[in-house]
Amino acid sequence: MADPIITIAQRLKPTFARIGGISEADADAVVRRSDRADAQVNGSLALAKQIGKTPREVAQLVLDDADLSSVCSSVEIAGPGFINVTFAPEFLADELARAAVDPRLGVSSATKAQTFVIDYSAPNVAKEMHVGHLRSTVIGDALVRMLEFVGHKVIRENHIGDWGTPFGMLIEHLIDLGETEAANELSVGDLDSFYKQARAKFEAEEIFKERARARVVLLQGGDVETLRMWKLLVGESTRYFDRVYQSLDVKLTASDIMGESAYNDLLPEVVERLNASKMLVTSDGAEVVFVDGFVNRDNEPLPLIIRKTDGGYNYATSDLACVIDRVERLGATVVLYVVGAPQAQHLEMVGVVSRKAGWVPETTQMVHVAFGNVLGSDRKILKSRSGEVVKLDALLTESVERARDAVREKNPDWSADQQNAIAKQVGIGAIKYADLSTDRIKDYVFDWERMLSFDGNTSPYLQYAHARICSIFRKAGVDRTSVRNVTPIVEHEAERALVLRLLQFDTAVWDTLDKYSPHRLCTYLYDLASEFSAFYEHCPVLRASTDEQRTSRLALCDFTARVMSQGLALLGIETPEQM
Ligand code: ARG
Repeated sequence: MADPIITIAQRLKPTFARIGGISEADADAVVRRSDRADAQVNGSLALAKQIGKTPREVAQLVLDDADLSSVCSSVEIAGPGFINVTFAPEFLADELARAAVDPRLGVSSATKAQTFVIDYSAPNVAKEMHVGHLRSTVIGDALVRMLEFVGHKVIRENHIGDWGTPFGMLIEHLIDLGETEAANELSVGDLDSFYKQARAKFEAEEIFKERARARVVLLQGGDVETLRMWKLLVGESTRYFDRVYQSLDVKLTASDIMGESAYNDLLPEVVERLNASKMLVTSDGAEVVFVDGFVNRDNEPLPLIIRKTDGGYNYATSDLACVIDRVERLGATVVLYVVGAPQAQHLEMVGVVSRKAGWVPETTQMVHVAFGNVLGSDRKILKSRSGEVVKLDALLTESVERARDAVREKNPDWSADQQNAIAKQVGIGAIKYADLSTDRIKDYVFDWERMLSFDGNTSPYLQYAHARICSIFRKAGVDRTSVRNVTPIVEHEAERALVLRLLQFDTAVWDTLDKYSPHRLCTYLYDLASEFSAFYEHCPVLRASTDEQRTSRLALCDFTARVMSQGLALLGIETPEQM
């Protein structure tokens, strides 16, 4: 455990247990960061109530009992009974030296490795990917990277929408257009117009509607020729998705696809199982499950529709099949759904039904990692200028182009290749970071100027902080790895603030995973960059007063750059050495 705040909380556990006459598991010293000192112990307040003493008396008992001399240089009781703690500089220095030789930079691994199945991205075949899919992809990718980093087993699943009634009309439209023409349209990523044309015909022409209906029956019946055309649609779309994933530099690949169609064979079993557990009822000709506690707007019981009147299965049915597959075949102990907030009720109902049916062991968690909308400057859902869905590949291209202008301006003498390579890292990083750095449940406003700015809580700012450190080493002609066995000197206030922050990388990663909230790691990295700036301003590095101090400060620079680079990598963002 690298974080000194956790170290002190653990050291104080036996003390709090003794004073309170409670078990160590129940004892909590409640240690927090503080503006007044390095940390503040707040646990005396709660304990005082339990044992009928004043908080200041308890605080005194704590200090009498605990030996913190190896960790703290001063401790004092303050206010109503807080204990203000200042860490001993040697302690901080030793902890940093230990973290610096650790390839994981002090981040502890999971005590018990779990099997995570993570459902994210999930765009729909023959439909444009929209900014909601971008959020799901970016948040999901960051969580995958972090969960793997701490040692969990992670199974990525891209639950694309590749099945259901719309495919009747889509296939008929494909036939009308001719396969070559259709493939052309789809492969350039003009999915929306393809879908809209099909929909328009479906609505306007009775004959087309009939053809579409008949086609769905053929599709569900496994007709070979129909399946061949369906595969064509899916193939063109997934090629397009793949291109977006590649430009985005996320870990999803074609082999992670587990679309709705993959659960086809399991659907009858879902019905059988629900029937056997007496949960299935017929309502208005459809087979449904009523879920306790869920009502519609008119306060009537709300069912989860399993099988529609026409015999077709529903979106919910494939989600139930997913649960069976993920728990029973894949052995998931945690299932994460990185899906927009509007689907909360649907996912909650799926969760309740599958637990009630006995498919999900008590110890298995199902978590909806929900997120808000991406808004335009008018605070409405982000649209393109012509009012259409924003095309993701166009958005990514624009970001890289804008970044290229900035990079070119800063480094006019670089080759075009060099400018392009860095522009890609900056442009894609900016998009991802803008998405990840706000609390995911909130909406955020998409703002080019802000996300690409080299100031403020942005990816370019953090990437630049990293690149600046790399340039210090270049200037000094010092190899970065040569300062990794150095125990630093923690003297100046800015040094101690920086070291304390560096040692909290561990806590930042775990806090982020605790609520699946990447913005927490972003905030940490931004605080780190700010503290590094203060350090760099007050503590000369290359012009330090002694060789020893220079080496020590170079070691702090190097470790900061490593945490920055690793932290951004966990968010899926690259860190160039020069910008
Ligand atoms: N394809 C769906 C959409 O675009 C998202 C699917 C999310 N995952 C799930 N298991 N339901 O809205």
